[in-house]
Amino acid sequence: MAARGEFSSQTAFILAASGSAVGLGNIWGFPIQVASNGGGAFVFTYIVLTFLLAYPILMAELVLGRHSKADTVRSVVNISSPKVKPFAYVTGYWGIITASLILSFYAIVAGWMIGFGAGSVAELAGLTELKAWLTAFSLERNLLLCLVFYVLTMSIVANGVTAGIEKWSTRLMPILLLLIVSLIAFIATQPGAMEGWKVYLQPDFSRILDPDLVISALGQAFFSLSLGVGTMMVYGSYISKADNLPRLGATVAVVDIGIAVLAGLLVIPAMYVALHNGVTIFDDAGALIDSDRLIFTVLPALFETMGFAGIVISVLFFILMTIAAITSSISMLEVPVAYVSESWSFDRRRASMMVGAGIMMISFIIIFNFEALFGFVINLTTRYSEPLIGLLFCLFVGWVMHRNHLLEELKQGSPDLENGLFWKIWPSYVRFVCPLVMLGVFMHSFGLLSF
Ligand code: PFF
Repeated sequence: MAARGEFSSQTAFILAASGSAVGLGNIWGFPIQVASNGGGAFVFTYIVLTFLLAYPILMAELVLGRHSKADTVRSVVNISSPKVKPFAYVTGYWGIITASLILSFYAIVAGWMIGFGAGSVAELAGLTELKAWLTAFSLERNLLLCLVFYVLTMSIVANGVTAGIEKWSTRLMPILLLLIVSLIAFIATQPGAMEGWKVYLQPDFSRILDPDLVISALGQAFFSLSLGVGTMMVYGSYISKADNLPRLGATVAVVDIGIAVLAGLLVIPAMYVALHNGVTIFDDAGALIDSDRLIFTVLPALFETMGFAGIVISVLFFILMTIAAITSSISMLEVPVAYVSESWSFDRRRASMMVGAGIMMISFIIIFNFEALFGFVINLTTRYSEPLIGLLFCLFVGWVMHRNHLLEELKQGSPDLENGLFWKIWPSYVRFVCPLVMLGVFMHSFGLLSF
């Protein structure tokens, strides 16, 4: 078997893991959640929950991965006693299946992003029919653009950790930041934007403890940090033993929150600029329009009111979305690919192509049965599977992994760990607090517990 890949520096890991974390969840999902959950109140709760629950679980995944330096299945199996091993296998495989299913719907949405971006380029070239085809919902368009997105994702993953994932994450993430900041600056100068800034930044504190808001914020924090599927575990397995894990994890969490907050500063003011320009942004019930209509109806309608500048802004916005999607999708594909190439000793290139093609078939099945499957797969994976697997990862770190091994692992790269706050709080936190809170949230989603 070929030697395992390893990120060449701490910065490379931070960019790759932030690339995984920062995705459609940040730039599309987060502003929608903010719009439909009381503006700033959601932002506040989301930030608190990311630090209280998501960061500790992110650390659990990173520790498990770097400890075993193996794919997700073996990372949990290696620390398990013979009695626990069957559960470890189930957890690992379940993670792989969930990562693959998330990729299967994510690639469809990413294809639409490519379509809208390419549509605006076609408009610049005067090809209005092509633009209409690229931006209208049709079976053919969905299949073709989804295929294009898979080809991009597979060709990056096929090149391996350093020559593929690291290389493209370090190239694309700075471009993403530059695009988002420039777009915020442009939108801020447009009439109406200040109204949006106000809605976004003035929290309605009465809603902060609203149970539904808390549950949505937790789900968003989980999805956004790519937790509960083994992505962070497999990226953790490529971190050098010389690197400081708690610091790396915290940096990734901060970057992820930072980009989500920036995305809100872009999308929410943009909605109010749209309102100022005569576009409808409230639904019949008086709430801000959310879900897919926000990105695929309101924003394109806004760009249309801006003439030539609007077309250019539209191209940049959808390039931003496509980049965000690609750096996330490569991390999803890496989970099954690492497993097939390591545990089954397949050549990585072949594994990437085979696994990628297999998951693309699942996307095609969803496209052919869109009404029945699209929402179902999203709900199944993000509302149920991810939090449940996250809970299991906590149990593995908190109850299965030997405390001395945990300490030894974390001390590599941070020798003073034992005297710091992290080691005083985190081990019992993942052992007791995280599993209990996760269980509570979970029972609430099944209607077994009300609060
Ligand atoms: N974190 C990504 C986003 O916010 O869009 C989504 C994601 C990536 C989920 C990777 C799961 C995953 F394994």
